[in-house]
Amino acid sequence: MRVAVVTGASSGIGQSAAVHIARRGTGVILTYHGNRAGALDTVATIEKDGGTAVALPLDAGRSEQFPAFRDAVLSALRDTWRRDTFDHLVNNAGASGAAAFADTSEELFDSLMRVLLKGPYFLTQTLLPLLASGGAVVNVASNAASFAGLEAGYSAYGTMKGGLVVLTRYLAKELSVRGIRVNSVSPGSTRTRIGGDAFAHHPEVIPALAARTALGRLGEPDDIGTVIAALAGDDLAWITAQDIEVSGGYNL
Ligand SMILES: NC(=O)c1ccc[n+]([C@@H]2O[C@H](COP(=O)([O-])OP(=O)(O)OC[C@H]3O[C@@H](n4cnc5c(N)ncnc54)[C@H](OP(=O)(O)O)[C@@H]3O)[C@@H](O)[C@H]2O)c1
Repeated sequence: MRVAVVTGASSGIGQSAAVHIARRGTGVILTYHGNRAGALDTVATIEKDGGTAVALPLDAGRSEQFPAFRDAVLSALRDTWRRDTFDHLVNNAGASGAAAFADTSEELFDSLMRVLLKGPYFLTQTLLPLLASGGAVVNVASNAASFAGLEAGYSAYGTMKGGLVVLTRYLAKELSVRGIRVNSVSPGSTRTRIGGDAFAHHPEVIPALAARTALGRLGEPDDIGTVIAALAGDDLAWITAQDIEVSGGYNL
């Protein structure tokens, strides 16, 4: 059985990606940071569908803890799937943070950098010995890194996501020798718990976002999770080094 590692799958896009990857018959190791209950919900949803999933804690901003995480992944692989490798890595864990460029502190910059860029960089490096040849990596970037999604206040967040898109291309080149494909998705605004559950607390922002979206609504986690699952799977096996905007046509 194939196995995927999906970071940040206790809610939102990562939760949807984990569920849709599992529906394709792939076992899932999913991670959470603060929301263990959400991760257990994801496991329960996958198991209800007949799939297999294991939840592990991970702080994507603490690269010094990644070797211990790799050991935990290896134990889960051996205990649950009797394997020493896994096939798909989805670097999804992330949080947003906004401030005008003039007001962006080094603390905010560094915290976004650690979780959104350094995290995926060194987590992928740390897990590489366990990533099977012929596998796939999907990085979750953002349309904040492109002209269409450019909004004042997101210079640090968007810069990290832009870095992740560039990292995707370099990984695609270097890992291609092992047949590993690497792509990214760039969601537009999507109804998740991002920004301290901002869409639930400030639903008044939604109509304006929907009005700027060609397909006329806010994105939902499954709009993105299904694309991540497809990119990891065999149907899109000839795609590598690409970033796919998944926004319903934001600012089209
Ligand atoms: N929603 C959008 O509009 C949107 C648009 C473009 C890109 N994205 C990107 O999509 C990805 C998923 O976010 P989401 O929208 O699905 O938000 P979400 O519902 O808040 O989910 C974020 C996930 O990332 C985890 N996470 C946050 N900080 C972490 C850390 N330091 N270490 C490890 N895990 C951490 C959270 O874990 P806990 O909750 O367990 O702490 C949760 O599982 C992020 O990379 C985000 O930047 C989102």
